[in-house]
Amino acid sequence: KGGYDHFMLKEIMEQPRAVKATMAPRIRGNDIVLDDADMDMHGIRKIIITACGSAYYAGCAAKYAIEALCRIPVSVELASELRYCNPLIGEDTLLIALSQSGETADTIAALREGKSRGARTLAIVNVVGSTVAKIADWCLYTWAGPEIAVATTKGYTTQLTALYLFALHTAKQLNTVDDATYRSMLSALKALPKQLQQALDMNPEIPQLAKKYHKAKSMFFIGRNTDYAVALEGALKMKEISYLHAEAYAAGELKHGTIALIEDKQPVVALCCNDAITEKTMSNIVEVKARGAEVLAVAPRGNGRILSLADDMIFVPQVNPLFSAVVEIVP
Ligand code: BG6
Repeated sequence: KGGYDHFMLKEIMEQPRAVKATMAPRIRGNDIVLDDADMDMHGIRKIIITACGSAYYAGCAAKYAIEALCRIPVSVELASELRYCNPLIGEDTLLIALSQSGETADTIAALREGKSRGARTLAIVNVVGSTVAKIADWCLYTWAGPEIAVATTKGYTTQLTALYLFALHTAKQLNTVDDATYRSMLSALKALPKQLQQALDMNPEIPQLAKKYHKAKSMFFIGRNTDYAVALEGALKMKEISYLHAEAYAAGELKHGTIALIEDKQPVVALCCNDAITEKTMSNIVEVKARGAEVLAVAPRGNGRILSLADDMIFVPQVNPLFSAVVEIVP
């Protein structure tokens, strides 16, 4: 366990190195070089990402970056649903299967289903030689190293990183971004390992916060856009690891019913790392505070208004909003 109490904690700490290992062999100067030289996205009209558990949520977070950079519609489908829904998949579809182990039965079945319908297929997998890696036409290994904890951490962050590399590479291939945008996105990607390390280092008070919040009966995680994708994975982790009920909600949707559940001292984790939409999420923080919620906000340092609204803060470095999920998930 490398001196840590649990494999999961060790793997959390390994994330900067793991993300670097995903990127380093694929960034050469100003170029992104993916493993399969014949990976051609011309003619692809839609992308379906399929996976289970946290890998599914990595897909949810990456959808924003792929659509923004490549201008191809992306849908993210649970593998256990996709395989049984007579999916609209054809030769103009790229099906991306995400899996740490490469052995999750539903993901394998969904991939087979997609292949049989003529889709081009890409596996993003950690375990070398696994079934998902073998079935797909193309493969990007995440090179995260062995993940022992059942609940994934570095598996998730490296899957997301591989999807960002894929998105930027495809955008260049299809000419959907100009040179200046490409270069600034590439330098934003290169900065991620260092920012992940900062996210690990800048919150020594997290164990104290855990002591304060762990007695709650349930927790809400709210956010919009990429922050919402992080809320989904955050709530899953809270349930899976703490046995504490948690629910993720798109912040703007709270008022349509759910807000009735927000009562005095209800913990709400507010994810506010996507600058473009933070103002909107802040209005939802005001709403839940008005009902007595206790708000733990996750945000970059420097936003005085969030600081004054929230009861507690977890800070993260400022990251380009398209890629912020990968750093924001760490705390
Ligand atoms: C679950 C794990 O059982 O499987 C999750 O608890 C994981 O952490 C999911 O995301 C999918 O696994 P894999 O190996 O296909 O990424």
